[in-house]
Amino acid sequence: MNHKINILESKIKKILNEIGYDISEVTINPSNRPDLGDYQYNGAMQLAKIYHDNPMNIAQRIVDNLKDFEEFKSIDIAAPGFINFIFSDTFLIDFANYSLENIKSNYDLGINKTIFLDYGGPNVAKILHVGHLRSANIGQALNNLCKAVGAKTISDVHLGDWGRPMGLVIQEIKTRYPDLPYFKTNYNGEEVKFTLTNEDLIEIYPTATIKAKENESIMEEARKINYELQNKHKGYYALWQKIVEISKNEIKKIYKDLNVNFDLWEGESDNFEYMDELFEYLYAKNIIKESNGAKVIEVKDEKDKLEIPPLILIKSNNAVSYEATDMAAIWERVKKYNPDEIWYIVDKRQELHFTQVFRAASKSQITNESTKLIFNGFGTMNGKDGKPFKTRDGGVMPLSELIANVTEVCEKRLIENITTKRQEIAKTIAIGAIKYADLLPYRTTDYNFDIEKFTDLNGKTGTYLLYSCVRMNSLLKKANEQNIKFNRISVLTTDNERKIIISMLDLKRIIKKSYENFSLNEICEYLYKITNLYNNFYAENKVLIEENQDIKTSWLSLTKLIYDNNVYLLKILGINIPEKM
Ligand code: ARG
Repeated sequence: MNHKINILESKIKKILNEIGYDISEVTINPSNRPDLGDYQYNGAMQLAKIYHDNPMNIAQRIVDNLKDFEEFKSIDIAAPGFINFIFSDTFLIDFANYSLENIKSNYDLGINKTIFLDYGGPNVAKILHVGHLRSANIGQALNNLCKAVGAKTISDVHLGDWGRPMGLVIQEIKTRYPDLPYFKTNYNGEEVKFTLTNEDLIEIYPTATIKAKENESIMEEARKINYELQNKHKGYYALWQKIVEISKNEIKKIYKDLNVNFDLWEGESDNFEYMDELFEYLYAKNIIKESNGAKVIEVKDEKDKLEIPPLILIKSNNAVSYEATDMAAIWERVKKYNPDEIWYIVDKRQELHFTQVFRAASKSQITNESTKLIFNGFGTMNGKDGKPFKTRDGGVMPLSELIANVTEVCEKRLIENITTKRQEIAKTIAIGAIKYADLLPYRTTDYNFDIEKFTDLNGKTGTYLLYSCVRMNSLLKKANEQNIKFNRISVLTTDNERKIIISMLDLKRIIKKSYENFSLNEICEYLYKITNLYNNFYAENKVLIEENQDIKTSWLSLTKLIYDNNVYLLKILGINIPEKM
């Protein structure tokens, strides 16, 4: 927990207290003017207000008392009272060597919480398309980040496997294959030989939807089937289980490609098991109202600028709503896991839904007072033209197709002499390019997906980062092949080395910011920055032919520090590094 910067801050605080300034916290930050210092302290201006003194005087007093700190090479004051520190080489070297041995020390924030993350949210019998990309990427990266900062996490895919779409699909299958045993009154749960594929399902669902829209009696039939399914009609239930299994297998394959995984593969159907209990509780709380034939919970607040409509639990046609499912999900999660926080990584256009659900949950006290429900909405990924991302023939772009397209571009860009595992390497790079591009914009920002730009080797891209890492790794491998032993930095010779380590010093602050904002863009920017700094160093110094052994082993150790740390950061983002590029 005790980061070098935090230790230094406490030391400065102690000095300030000793010279008579009653101050509870000191923070020093990377300098806005790197030409003047590495880090700066801006507290003299505030102290000046509190103690009715001139900030320059205060800064001078502070500097006089920090003079002997071995952490600093020099300390200066800039008007109107900024204190600029230049770190001593020993301080930087000690920090770098400690980090080399303890990469995780730059991440562990001592967060002692259980965080439940709800992301992915794919729907059974529907295509997993580009609209599902960000939930999976952002959700998984936040999950990894939570673990890195010390939290315990539980992740749930929250499959959309319940409700009218299921009725529609079953009704269409029944029309096509009326003789299947599932539809016989004497069906008793036995295995049915009936081949159904994911391709079938994604064709059946839209067909069924169109038919039902055009024909009310089909819609009515689908509703009826759905109702019976929810009451565990033997045949419908067995067929539904088959449908879910097929979809799940397909979804799992794509998530595996994206390095996305879940502790729980629960669906809305699992939450539904808790519906009776939940309603009994809500009725006992006397919180449910009748409104135009629907059952609702009032959630508006006097302070609302926009009117928040009541949350509908049961619609006027008696169907259980999406809102009710999410209420039941909270009920189940609190009961089983009692998390400190539940994070939802869902399209920002669902914000109203979650506002209603969170208010109803707190009003009805289905959460403990300390349970925090947090909506982490995200913006849309559009095509290059800013319009919804489409396939060449104008349909929604399946995620599998997006991955294949980007892989194809990456494969073309790979150098010719990579012949073995070419496809696998291209795919790893493609996933890195997709994920980095997706995590780089601030979470709620919409962005345009541009395949050429995002796979470019030069620029703020995943490809650039991966290439740089592969190069660092190959340098380290060559050093090992030459039997060079290196495990610590002993000297700093160039300005770029200092810049790299100073940037490493800032990592913990970046991690904290990222965790507090539930966003990965800070980490993405940081990776780009430190990789650039390293590449400047790399271009400037010929590491392996350096004759001074101390310098050479220091450079290799620095390379290892940045490589290991980049690997760790990329892992948080869910990005793997290819063997070669
Ligand atoms: N399946 C939903 C959809 O496609 C997303 C689920 C989000 N999570 C939740 N707990 N509601 O819109």
